[in-house]
Amino acid sequence: MKTLIKNGTVVNSTGTALADVLIDGETIAAVLSPGSRLLGFDVESNVDTVIDARGKYVIPGGIDAHTHMEMPFGGTQASDTFETGTRAAAWGGTTSIVDFVVQYAGENVIDQYQKWHEKAAGQCAIDYGFHQILSDVQDSSLTAMDELVAEGVSSFKLFMAYKGVFLSDDGQIVKAMQRAATNGSIIMMHAENGSVIDLLVQQAVAAGNTSPLYHGLTRPWQAEEEATHRAIMLANLTGAPLYIVHVSAKQAVDQIAQARDTGQNVFGETCPQYLYLSLEDNLGAPGFEGAKWVCSTPLRAKAEGHQHHMWQSLRTNDIQMVSTDHCPFCMKGQKDMGLADFSKIPNGIGSVEHRMDLLYQGVVDGKISLERWVEVCSTTPARMFGMYGRKGVIQPGADGDVVVYDPNGHTSIGMPETGRAKTHHMNMDYSAWEGYEIDGHVDTVLSRGKVVIDQNAYLGAKGDGRFIKRGLSQYLI
Ligand code: URP
Ligand code: ZN
Ligand code: ZN
Ligand code: ZN
Repeated sequence: MKTLIKNGTVVNSTGTALADVLIDGETIAAVLSPGSRLLGFDVESNVDTVIDARGKYVIPGGIDAHTHMEMPFGGTQASDTFETGTRAAAWGGTTSIVDFVVQYAGENVIDQYQKWHEKAAGQCAIDYGFHQILSDVQDSSLTAMDELVAEGVSSFKLFMAYKGVFLSDDGQIVKAMQRAATNGSIIMMHAENGSVIDLLVQQAVAAGNTSPLYHGLTRPWQAEEEATHRAIMLANLTGAPLYIVHVSAKQAVDQIAQARDTGQNVFGETCPQYLYLSLEDNLGAPGFEGAKWVCSTPLRAKAEGHQHHMWQSLRTNDIQMVSTDHCPFCMKGQKDMGLADFSKIPNGIGSVEHRMDLLYQGVVDGKISLERWVEVCSTTPARMFGMYGRKGVIQPGADGDVVVYDPNGHTSIGMPETGRAKTHHMNMDYSAWEGYEIDGHVDTVLSRGKVVIDQNAYLGAKGDGRFIKRGLSQYLI
């Protein structure tokens, strides 16, 4: 099966050019400049499918390196399965995810890793990799880290919050970091001071402050800055590369920037919610509405200027990439567990379908360049997590993961109860992005050479997606 995507504007992180892209089987075979036609190469008559991308961008498929499909969490389970979540991702121009294997205290890491393979195998619409969560860091967890690196799982997430659920103490963190420093893997950190947050939550609830807004007010930026700083110091001590997940506070960005200025391998990821949504407008919505946007780190106060700083840090590379932290819960039966107490609201927002669009809107709004869009959504995730070459770039030899994006198209995000057609495919009974209008449209999505989205039709199937055996990070200084 050969496919030619012709007349499009190919956008890589390194530049933009008019070119035709030839995909042979699962792999990009050639990127042909218009001049090659003048030289007499007749590619078109030798292919099975031709996609005309005139006036459209041809970009490497999105890579969402932070998702939680069907994760057991907060007394329930994330509402998207590997099947529904990866299909929704494909709809939004994302052709790879990296999800998290969960290890709760007392569980065996390798057992959990195998369980996650069983959950995902044969279910996914697009390719998927795994990071491994470590909570308690047992001796067996350390040997498991080496085994997992050999399996293609070269990144480990630790938590400085969620005591009794995920939290690792500083000693455990250092142990895992020491191991990462020797086996070449990267430590991902949920950087919030959990003890301080637990105290503030207890005090708020005792005082009768139980609405969703207090989720944000009890997780202040100081708790994020402090934990980010501590994580950076522990990484410095051990020599482990460090990647801070879901950065929302500008003060945490500054910690990362400072560390990078000293040459330390420290990186930061932010998420669309921290670029667009806020404590005032969303968490503070009337009644229980704010529950829709309860996630950690929390949405921050607009008045404090985090959002502006976050867009800027995407431009300056103080923050390197954007993932969603896709962790969806329905309002009915899940978020509403916290009706009487915000601390019982399961933490998470669903955005896996909208990341490419929401960040493209940043291009339209003049906040990032076209090439930077591709870089933060695809190329850097590939390099950061050891997939570059196969993923994250349009070049011969790369997987045929390609999106045709129409800058003259339009995407409305919404749900039926508000009078709109349901315009998302995630398994959620609401949209965290209700009412967002995007000046662009995902037209065609190819996953390893197969067209999975064609305009408004899904042509893929569950089980199309394969496990990505990742190498070590290709982003280290
Ligand atoms: O609220 C969030 N972020 N839920 C998912 C778990 C995590 O900490 O990433
Ligand atoms: Zn986290
Ligand atoms: Zn997460
Ligand atoms: Zn379109």
